[in-house]
Amino acid sequence: MSFVAFSVLCVVAGVFATPGGVNEIDPSDSNVQAAADFAVGEISAQSKTVNPYVRTSISGTQQVVAGLKYELTIKVAESSTCSKTDELSLDLCTVDMTTIHYFRAVVLWQSWMSPDYTLLEFNEVPPSDEEAKFQSFLASYARTYTNDVKQYEMKLMTFQDNLKTIQQLQANEQGTAQYGINEFSDISAQEFLSTHAMANGFPESDVELPMAPKLSTDIPTSVDWREKNVVTPVKNQGSCGSCWAFSVTGNIEGQWAIHKGKLISLSEQELVDCDKVDHGCEGGLPWNAFKQIMALGGLETESDYPYKAADGMCHFEKSKVVVNINGSLNISSDEDQMAAWLASNGPITIGINAAAMQHYHGGIADPWTIFCRPSQIDHGVLIVGYGQDGSKPFWIIKNSWGASWGEKGYYRIIRGKGKCGLNRMPTSATVA
Ligand SMILES: *[C@@H]1O[C@H](CO)[C@@H](O)[C@H](O)[C@H]1NC(C)=O
Ligand SMILES: *[C@@H]1O[C@H](CO)[C@@H](O)[C@H](O)[C@H]1NC(C)=O
Repeated sequence: MSFVAFSVLCVVAGVFATPGGVNEIDPSDSNVQAAADFAVGEISAQSKTVNPYVRTSISGTQQVVAGLKYELTIKVAESSTCSKTDELSLDLCTVDMTTIHYFRAVVLWQSWMSPDYTLLEFNEVPPSDEEAKFQSFLASYARTYTNDVKQYEMKLMTFQDNLKTIQQLQANEQGTAQYGINEFSDISAQEFLSTHAMANGFPESDVELPMAPKLSTDIPTSVDWREKNVVTPVKNQGSCGSCWAFSVTGNIEGQWAIHKGKLISLSEQELVDCDKVDHGCEGGLPWNAFKQIMALGGLETESDYPYKAADGMCHFEKSKVVVNINGSLNISSDEDQMAAWLASNGPITIGINAAAMQHYHGGIADPWTIFCRPSQIDHGVLIVGYGQDGSKPFWIIKNSWGASWGEKGYYRIIRGKGKCGLNRMPTSATVA
């Protein structure tokens, strides 16, 4: 009897590298799973938690001894839909992935014994640093996938990729920017750019704007239009590629406030819904939008035509128009000229490559060019000021990812290097 068992075991072990050696387990092997479930049942029975543990993944080794010895690392999560006396599996129980534990368990399987599994020892082990960070991320930002093991594991992988990106951005940062975990840390770079910028870049256009006249660059060392009551609070585009509309309303809000003395928050949704040349949540071009606003007859207020972060039917009412423009200008891509225009005229609509912005926390960003190639502009934002910090001249940029991103919703980036393509499409509306 025991001889038969041994020969079977040696055949099993023969699938792996070294007979009698320590080999990696195959997590899909039903015998491995049974050993892990046996251990989890014992650990669950001894634990003080009301809810049982359910196994969510296994790794480890096995070795042929007098029987099979498994040394497993078992990840479990608590389930509030099953009890300790139930059969416990992910098919039958809903787990809460914010309650994970890792156990190291040594299980002996001897098919000739009864019961055939013995839990030789176990102890709780901490999760990896990265998963611990992910767990605290989940605690900070309400997420809806914490009952979905597959989604959790996918998001954990994305989060780990983002931790690498953050580390690379930080290691190669030439300015003073800090990068780190924020509300976007579980979104892949590709998904992020398609939902919070315009992954396919700005659409083509043959519209030509008149050039702004050349200005003297004898200008103040710093300008911040936020201090002049011409910039509305930071808005949030949500998961909709409508950045272009926010950069346009921000510019017109500034022009109106500067020329008319009244700061009015304007409607992006009107542009998303009614500007038929542009593509709503799928992207748009500021200078198309300027022309469309003139064709429509103006902009409604934010409160009359509120933001929905989704494409919708146009319900523009001309009688609700509060602001109109009489034209738009192309501003020089010379950053000294941009500064001169901004200093005397107000905030500027620009395009930028947003790839280095997802994980930004603060400071003057000067990312490596490979992180934000100037040729790939995919985000519309608003320059509201500039300054100089020691040897670093910078722009102050109003973004539309909410006030919890970056420096209270703002981005500072090095000035004078064409960084991330920020000087490639500066434009502004004009107000009569
Ligand atoms: C603005 O001027 C630049 C430089 O002359 C030109 O390449 C660009 O196409 C112009 N953009 C618009 C919208 O007129
Ligand atoms: C818009 O109005 C301003 C102020 O009256 C004027 O200087 C400017 O030339 C006008 N722009 C266009 C394109 O008509």
